[in-house]
Order: sequence, then C-alpha cells, then structure tokens
Amino acid sequence: MDFNLSEEHIMIRDAARDFAQNELLPGVIERDENQKFPTEQVKKMGELGFLGMMVDPKYGGSGLDAVSYVLAMEEISKIDASASVVMSVNNSLVCWGLETFGSEEQKQKYLVPLAKGEIIGAFCLSEPEAGSDATSQKTTAFEKDDHYLLNGTKNWITNGNNASVYLVIAQTDIDKGHKGINAFIVEKGTPGFEIGPKENKLGIRGSDTHSLMFTDVKVPKENRIGEDGFGFKFAMKTLAGGRIGIASQALGIASGAYELALKYSKERKAFGKEISKHQAIAFKLADMATQIEAARHLCMKAAWDKDQGKNYDLSGAMAKLYAAEMAMDVTVEAVQIHGGYGFVKEYHVERLMRDAKITQIYEGTSEIQKIVISRSVLRD
Ligand code: CAA
Repeated sequence: MDFNLSEEHIMIRDAARDFAQNELLPGVIERDENQKFPTEQVKKMGELGFLGMMVDPKYGGSGLDAVSYVLAMEEISKIDASASVVMSVNNSLVCWGLETFGSEEQKQKYLVPLAKGEIIGAFCLSEPEAGSDATSQKTTAFEKDDHYLLNGTKNWITNGNNASVYLVIAQTDIDKGHKGINAFIVEKGTPGFEIGPKENKLGIRGSDTHSLMFTDVKVPKENRIGEDGFGFKFAMKTLAGGRIGIASQALGIASGAYELALKYSKERKAFGKEISKHQAIAFKLADMATQIEAARHLCMKAAWDKDQGKNYDLSGAMAKLYAAEMAMDVTVEAVQIHGGYGFVKEYHVERLMRDAKITQIYEGTSEIQKIVISRSVLRD
C-alpha cells in the first residue's frame, strides 16, 4: 500500500491550488454576497481542463483519474465552494453520465463541448415532491411520433440558468415504476422549457440554483440516454460518482476553514499568549486535523475504488456521509476559534460554515447515505 501521491497528482493539486488562490479568492466574498455566478472563473476552469477532468481526451477531456479529481476538488472548494459545485456537477454527473452511457452521436454533440468547458451542464432529478424519494418522479415524457413530449417541474437544479445542456430524468411509463423512467438530453432554449427564478440560498450563493418548467417540450428520440427504462439506474449510477465529488467538496470546505483557524490561532493573543497555546484551542485544532485526515482517506479510497474499476457505491456513500458531517463540525469550530471575527464576512469562515451545510443535503442527504450504507452492510 502506497499513500504517496505521484508527481502528476502533486502537479494537479498545486495547479488547482494556484488557480484557487489567484483566480477564485479575489472577489469570493462579493460573489457570495451578491449571488453572482463566477462566469469568468468557470470559463478559465474550462480552459485549464477542470471541467472535464476524467473524460477521455478524444472527447475533449483531460483524461485524468478520480484521485486527481478529488485533489483538485479539495483545493478549489477550500476557497470557493460555489465554483466547485459547478465543477462537480459538470464532471461527475453530466460528463461522466454522457461518457459512460451516451451514444457516440450524443458524445460528439454534447460531451465534447461540456468536457472542454465551452458550455456547462445540469443534472435534473429532484422535483417538488421527489427529492430523497427519487423513484416518485412526476415529470413525464411520453412518446409521440419521432420525439418525446416532456412535461413537469424540476427543483433545486444546480447550474439551472447557466447550463446549456440538461440531463432530465422523467417517467415514460407510469405503470412500470422505476423501470419506466428514462434520462433525456434537453437543450436550453427548446420551446416550452422555462427557467424559474433563482433560489436565494444560505450557502454556495455564487452558484445558481433554479426550478425548471417543461410544458410540451419536444425532445428528439435520439436524445434518450441508454436503453428504454434505464433512466433510474442511470441516475443512481451517476449519483454514486457524484457523491465522491461532493465528499471532496466537503473535505475542501473543512480544510479551508481549518487552515484559516490554524493561522488565526497563531496570530491572535489572549491572556498573554497566542490562543493556539491554550489547550482549549489546541485540542480543537487536533480534533479538526484528525477529522479532516479521516475524511481525506475516505475520499481517496472511494476515488481509488473508481480508478480500479471496483464498485464505489459504498465507499462513495461513506466518504460523502463522513465528509459532510465533518465539514459542518469543523467549520463551526473554525468560527468559534475566530471568536467575533469569525462572525463577520472578511474572515471567510462564516461563508465556509454556511457552504458546508449543503453538503449534508445535496446528492443525497446524510440520511440517504445511511440508507445506502446500511443496505450494503446488511446485505454482506
Ligand atoms: N447502481 C445501480 N442500480 C441501482 C443503484 C446503483 N447505485 N441504486 C439503486 N439501483 C437500482 C436497484 O438495483 C433497483 O433496481 P432493480 O429493481 O432492478 O433491482 C432500483 O435502482 C431501485 O432501487 P431501490 O429499490 O434501492 O430504490 P429506493 O426507492 O429504495 O431508493 C435511494 C434508493 C438510495 C434512497 C435513492 O432513491 C436515492 O439515492 N435517493 C436520493 C436521490 C438524490 O441523491 N438526489 C440528489 C439530487 S441530484 C443533486 O443534488 C445534484 C445537484 O444539483 C448538486
């Protein structure tokens, strides 16, 4: 067993770290406050290959492994989790789903510009009444002549307005339950496809989250992904990889907050010495460092499983569960270490604490991860 990173991995991690420091840090507070999408920054991420990291270069991607993806996600999330959720959705949900299950025509038409970062994509599963209970899709897509007619509403869609390509999950045969669900590629601007107002969120405020409305939207038959009835499995398999991305996001949010708290604790003096020299603070830092390291190992294990071609449903769910819970705990402690300064925006930790919360909710709540994990351990 070798815990060392390769030279290539170190290079990718450092490139992501430099990008985050130089391009994402300036303006991150203002983007959060004004809910401003990081348009220029996402464009640069595309140019640097961060939006199609694991996609084969023949489809415009960087051809890297999942370990590289975790490393880059951690570095970018340390500074700007709004930018990293765009990256995570584009890489794990949209590009991976299309590369793994799309037809050659779909790959040429959609995957290539998505992997190059020329456009970004969105993954549309959640509905007003189908969040955790993903089989209860109310959106329908019934066959009619040479197309499907899509009707319904999707909720909480990341990249909702800034995406150009949407992977939409819909019920095509109600009697068949989850076996009557399909996934479709829907282009922005298709008649009948409307984007709802932007959600005003607690965290990841720079990313855009919208509801989407579909009214008699004509989707060409060739835009269905995979065999008829494959949509629910498509969503589950895609989300399994997505959870590695969000676990790494949570890891990055926590390590960003920890690094700030560590630095602050060595500068700030109270009762005649740096606060890091008080055991109350030193023990907090010890706990935070240990939790972060544990989460990093879980993320790396899940990524390694993926790179080895092993099943990563369990390791991905464990990584997401632990990293998300840990990120919430660690960011709260980072604010506490900063005292009153932690409660104001200039010190960044209050934003990281707000951003951490969503990692316990999206791509399956912590409770959903426990369903996946408990089913797996009880089956074994
Ligand atoms: N791989 C392949 N197939 C899978 C699978 C997987 N990982 N997980 C389930 N399936 C299959 C099952 O084998 C089953 O198929 P068969 O009947 O042929 O055996 C079928 O899918 C149904 O599975 P379940 O009976 O387990 O389904 P369930 O209703 O009990 O739900 C669940 C399982 C894990 C709770 C699932 O509903 C789930 O993951 N819910 C959470 C949804 C979610 O994560 N939403 C996030 C939205 S996306 C998002 O947040 C993106 C963003 O914008 C950032």
